[in-house]
Amino acid sequence: MEHIFEKGKEGNEWTLLLLHGTGGDENDLMPLAGMIDPDASVLSVRGNVNENGMNRFFRRLAEGVFDEEDLIFRTKELKDFLDDAARKYGFDRSKVVAVGYSNGANIAGSILYHYENALNGAALLHPMVPLRGINLPSLKGIPVFIGAGKNDPICSAQEAVDLEKDLSGVGASVEVFWTNMGHQLTREEVEQASVWFKKKVKGEDS
Ligand code: MLT
Repeated sequence: MEHIFEKGKEGNEWTLLLLHGTGGDENDLMPLAGMIDPDASVLSVRGNVNENGMNRFFRRLAEGVFDEEDLIFRTKELKDFLDDAARKYGFDRSKVVAVGYSNGANIAGSILYHYENALNGAALLHPMVPLRGINLPSLKGIPVFIGAGKNDPICSAQEAVDLEKDLSGVGASVEVFWTNMGHQLTREEVEQASVWFKKKVKGEDS
């Protein structure tokens, strides 16, 4: 998969896996990594699916209606890529935290829905439930941050509520941060994600 890898500062073992929204690319979320943990390694990936010139991480049949077969295939593809990248670049595979926006949040969510121990945490910004009616693996103690807009017309508030319920139900430690905004990413939620990362992922006091 097309990607950018930037090694973090010596002594920082964390890797942020950045996953863009529909129509974006691997450059989009790079500034977010700097806000969340400027010293962490960064692996920023471009979605392999092309929808009328727009990059995505999996196919959809209509807005908000996912091609489930492709979603499952692409989820495995991304997980395998992550395993290969860890070997290639030498980062700690057990310290990877996804930061995904919209379609990127949905594929990150899908990794959590399908694989145990594939991610050590995830910040899901404007996510949906990736797949309904499946049994999730145990996500005991995995920290998850959900950034949601009460007026998001694409990823509705109910999606965030249901996602929180599913993930908490299998033991994830989920924090939901609400704004009154729509689908756009806000500075406020990224700042909150940064606080969450320090406290809940790295276990720092302040
Ligand atoms: C998706 O297709 O993943 C969601 O509808 C969000 C988006 O439009 O990217």
